[in-house]
Amino acid sequence: MLTGSASLFVIVFTLVNILACVWLMWWTSKKRDAEETTDSSGGVAKTGHVWDGDLEEYNNPLPRWWLGLFLITIVFSLAYLVIYPGLGNFDGIKGWSMYSAYEREMQAQQARLEERLSQVKDKTLRELATDESAMSMARNLFANNCSTCHGSDARGAKGFPNLTDDDWLWGGSEEAVLETIANGRRGVMPGWAAALGDQGVNEVASYVVSLSGRDAPKDWVSAGEKHFAAMCAACHGVDGKGNQLLGAPNLTDNVWLYGGDFESIRTTVANGRDNEMPAHAPLLGDMKVRLLAAYVLSLNPSRDSGKDSGFDVKENAELSKAETQTADPAGATSTTENEASG
Ligand code: HEC
Ligand code: HEC
Repeated sequence: MLTGSASLFVIVFTLVNILACVWLMWWTSKKRDAEETTDSSGGVAKTGHVWDGDLEEYNNPLPRWWLGLFLITIVFSLAYLVIYPGLGNFDGIKGWSMYSAYEREMQAQQARLEERLSQVKDKTLRELATDESAMSMARNLFANNCSTCHGSDARGAKGFPNLTDDDWLWGGSEEAVLETIANGRRGVMPGWAAALGDQGVNEVASYVVSLSGRDAPKDWVSAGEKHFAAMCAACHGVDGKGNQLLGAPNLTDNVWLYGGDFESIRTTVANGRDNEMPAHAPLLGDMKVRLLAAYVLSLNPSRDSGKDSGFDVKENAELSKAETQTADPAGATSTTENEASG
């Protein structure tokens, strides 16, 4: 929107220009008598202007057809300015605007999408995952709504979990994944620097390093084990295998959200972490959330036994949890067959 005076300026400036064109037409279409001379041979009127000694200018009015075209453009411009926006803040009698045109286009697209969604709305997640048309919609939805955080390949980044592996913070059952996407999750790990001090943090971090089968100073590990039992087991479990109800990760599997080297673990333990997956049901609606859940589950390799597949754990979430957590992630990916997307 222009301010009132800017708008007035644009209106006056535009109209004066058009009027100037009309005047110019009128002025050029009449003969200028003043300097008229007559050629000795033909008697054709000239303006009296001479270039290069012998190049003279006839004093003819502009050709009628040319004037006609000119007139048409002027009439066109006036009509255009009455119908469409152009004169300052005047909207034009049709009320057309870039925004309303964009709105209409978006609404049409939305309607097409709703139509396609309604065709798949009664399918189960498993059926959705094998429905080509549903999954192509889901891929677009993922690219638009999820890839900024989880990456276009859904493999995540530091602080953003990989959605294609078998390792879940909050659980890989249909219900858990639906719940995560619809209502969001917040993973809160308190900081321990104040309670444990530098040395205590080193010790418990060493113990965490040792949980995934790596070397760490022996005396730190054994001191750390005691801290762990007292301060960490409540969330991460006595065995360090995590708790999906709290989003507390498995610390024994060498899959890390923030990095598994001693320094990263130290930082996590000392300062804590606060990480949020935003709720998407309010943004996308239930149907799109279902599509995305099916898509995420389809990215997951399902083991031959089927028990770790996002789709097969519905009947037995507890079993799946235990299985997922004891799974060796390297073995999991190499021996899998992606049944859901196959
Ligand atoms: C603003 C960034 C952001 C966006 C956008 C986002 N996520 Fe997340 N997502 C996260 C974070 C961060 C977590 C981990 C939360 C935690 O640490 O507990 C997460 C966790 C998840 C999980 C749980 C993973 C597990 O291991 O349990 C799933 C599933 C998921 N996101 C799917 C999606 C889908 C599908 C979309 C798109 C609709 C999406 N996310 C969009 C940031 C995001
Ligand atoms: C209140 C529950 C709670 C307690 C107590 C707790 N944690 Fe955590 N921890 C979490 C949660 C939740 C996360 C995941 C944070 C996120 O999603 O960003 C986490 C993450 C971590 C991570 C990062 C794992 C990764 O994949 O990068 C480490 C390491 C860790 N905790 C170690 C510890 C240690 C050691 C203690 C004890 C000193 C401890 N935690 C105590 C809840 C807890």
